[in-house]
Amino acid sequence: MKKRNIPYGVLACISIVFILYALVNNYIIDPGAEKFLSQKTGLSRQLKLPIWLNVMYIHVAFACIAMAAGLLNFSKVLFEKSRKFHRINGYIYLISVLAVVLTSGYMAPYATGGKISSMGFNALNMIWLFITVTALVQIKKKRVSRHRSWMMRSYAFCFTNMLIHLTAFLCHNGFGYEYAVSYTIGIYSSIALLLVIPEVIIRIRERWNIK
Ligand code: HEM
Repeated sequence: MKKRNIPYGVLACISIVFILYALVNNYIIDPGAEKFLSQKTGLSRQLKLPIWLNVMYIHVAFACIAMAAGLLNFSKVLFEKSRKFHRINGYIYLISVLAVVLTSGYMAPYATGGKISSMGFNALNMIWLFITVTALVQIKKKRVSRHRSWMMRSYAFCFTNMLIHLTAFLCHNGFGYEYAVSYTIGIYSSIALLLVIPEVIIRIRERWNIK
């Protein structure tokens, strides 16, 4: 009987549930992002709602594509079936990351929590872009194992939104911080976690010689 890849199954479940949640929540339940926008206070720039909303729709769409494309490319079964699919899907991931980063660049100055949050998002943008481009450079140099590790580091950033909201929820509802402060804490703790978690997974895989 074929051995099941449990870690991949868990990753697939989390990713699929989050993609569905992001699509339903942002396009069906709250398409005007009213709940999220109501928590913005003291913006230094006037937010142009129709433009912001359209940029947010594009952002969410490409974020979901990146999440799905990345997930498919970690599948060993698909990789063994078709290298061509892996390559094309890899470029879809890359383009989606670029689109998320560009739209994020537009939204960052209006971020909940003000300037400190904006700076956090800009840092996220640069780190994610650098890591993703490094993953591409590694495979261009035919370093498969390093490419895989850098892609794991890159894919972690697809969970940015989920982690920010989880941390913000915990700080706001658990510790009673103001929502904007909780959101800012969410951004910076997510940056730390998104860098540390894949690093731990990569070390474990290396130590246990998991291919
Ligand atoms: C890949 C998964 C991601 C999804 C599904 C996603 C989704 C969203 C959604 C729904 C919003 C609207 C507000 C909210 O509900 O939080 C948003 C806002 C935003 N996202 Fe993303 N996002 C993702 C990744 C990223 C990444 C990696 C970055 C930065 C590199 C980023 C930067 C931003 C910024 C700057 C905002 C505006 C925040 C604000 O107005 O306070 N997102 N995102």
